[in-house]
Amino acid sequence: MMRIISTVAEAQSLSRRNARALVPTMGALHKAHRELIRVARQHAGRHGEVVVSIFVNPLQFEPGSDYERYPRPERADQEFCEEAGVDLLFRPSVTELYVEDRSVFVDESVLSATLEGKARPGHFRGVCTVVTKLFNVLAPAVFGEKDFQQLAIVRRMVRDLNFNLEIIAVPTLREEDGLAYSSRNQYLTLEERAQASVLYKGVRAAAGLGKKSAADVIAVARKVINEAPLARIDYVELVDAETLQPVEIVGLNSVLLVAVYFGKTRLIDNIQLG
Ligand code: PAF
Repeated sequence: MMRIISTVAEAQSLSRRNARALVPTMGALHKAHRELIRVARQHAGRHGEVVVSIFVNPLQFEPGSDYERYPRPERADQEFCEEAGVDLLFRPSVTELYVEDRSVFVDESVLSATLEGKARPGHFRGVCTVVTKLFNVLAPAVFGEKDFQQLAIVRRMVRDLNFNLEIIAVPTLREEDGLAYSSRNQYLTLEERAQASVLYKGVRAAAGLGKKSAADVIAVARKVINEAPLARIDYVELVDAETLQPVEIVGLNSVLLVAVYFGKTRLIDNIQLG
């Protein structure tokens, strides 16, 4: 039976004799989370523990963004976890996880300055701070590759701060038309949803070009995405997968990242090239 806890004290008092793997989430669970849970089970083993945390982390929402309206379907999320065979669900409140006079944050300063970090100031400081806390309270964790920059930054943090844990990456899970699963997809209108697969079509078309210049690859992705009348590109960038710095030519370690608005909804996707 799945155990549900909501305090740090409870989480830390649980025995950790068995292997554990954590799937950190902000809830509104969907198929891609199920895939993360499946991979977490592989890592924890049959007798190990799969933990899911659900916490809509206020620290990673920039002012004026969707913190208030972010979906919080508590009951459905709980049932989802039960059905997926999760052993432990950690659902803390904001006041449980953040004391009011907190003054220590985890701030990655280089990779976070680009791409999503540029568009969403403070976002990765919020992510690094909360995942550090979750690692300390619970266990090592599984992350999806859809949030490519987040994964790179968490790996950098683990490296630079000598966290004694493994970060497990899981390939992006997609709907039939190629749209990456995301809790924010539910904000899309029917018309926007019908066009949203252009993110994946764009990056796929660019990947099909082979070892071209960044300018060519970016131009192709932009052209395909712009074919959707409701799409408004925020960025299309070709970067090195580790440093996240722009590269001129597609190389072995290149990744193409895109962020596109449909109305107020901002979608991201990426593809590894080379
Ligand atoms: O990717 C997410 O859902 C969040 O950024 C995470 C890792 C759960 C931290 O709040």
